[in-house]
Amino acid sequence: MNNLRHYIKEAEKNKTAIGHFNISNLEMLWAVFNGAKSVGVPVIIGVSEGERDFIGGKQAVALVKSLREEHHYPIFINADHTYKVDLVKEAVDAGFDMIIYDGAQLPFEENAANTKECVQYARAKNPEILVEAEIGYIGSGSDVKETVPEGAGVKTKPEEAEKFVKETDIDLLAPSIGSIHGLIKSGKPHIDGKLAKEIRKTAKVPIVLHGGSGLTDEDFVNAIEAGVSIIHVSTELRVAFQQTLKISLQQNPDETTPYKIMKPTVQAIQKIVENRLRLFNKIK
Ligand code: G3H
Ligand code: ZN
Repeated sequence: MNNLRHYIKEAEKNKTAIGHFNISNLEMLWAVFNGAKSVGVPVIIGVSEGERDFIGGKQAVALVKSLREEHHYPIFINADHTYKVDLVKEAVDAGFDMIIYDGAQLPFEENAANTKECVQYARAKNPEILVEAEIGYIGSGSDVKETVPEGAGVKTKPEEAEKFVKETDIDLLAPSIGSIHGLIKSGKPHIDGKLAKEIRKTAKVPIVLHGGSGLTDEDFVNAIEAGVSIIHVSTELRVAFQQTLKISLQQNPDETTPYKIMKPTVQAIQKIVENRLRLFNKIK
């Protein structure tokens, strides 16, 4: 089985992007896996600190690896947005395929120093693991927001990206190129394709688009065209989960079997994943 690095290289070569979807439970994992399998493309499962707390970090790794082994399928797991260096180390030890240290809100040099520590620890423990870090704050929290949060959305400068990668030796960079985490009621900003292209050039490592929920198809196409090779989507899946669950409970008030109550949530999320993956992989 090829590793994640291989699939990222393939995506760069083909001008496509690998979809990264966050999960909070087993229903969401099946939805993402079934969606990816039906489209026939590699996929990354993301679990944030909170999601890891809820599912269990080691348990999330075991679940994803069991799907990978049983189905011989390229499904990978990322320890998404990890704010504490100690929790990065914990995720490395738990066997994640990739980790993200998120020091975007820290001063540049502190972010770089912490990132470097994470890179060194990760490589010593697992030479195959990929380490991503973030510069340029794009907000936090995959939820529905009224407006863009204060302080978020300051775009990354190409020269900053170059300096950061040189200092840290990361495998992947998450720059701020226009998107914001979450679904923004007052309107989601658009992707700055020109900036993304410049950053990809100066950073010299693959770049990752965060905050995929609420972006237009055109935004995604622009981002991929500019050289983005992984795209994160979370809030859209959470909203689908919540809305479908509400309907399921309302329509079947006497139903007590969890797998019957939850089934529509899996179907709804799978549909979103399939649509996004077709777009990211240029499949009609
Ligand atoms: O890391 C997760 C994401 O970047 C998801 O962003 O909630 O806007 O889709 P989103
Ligand atoms: Zn993110």
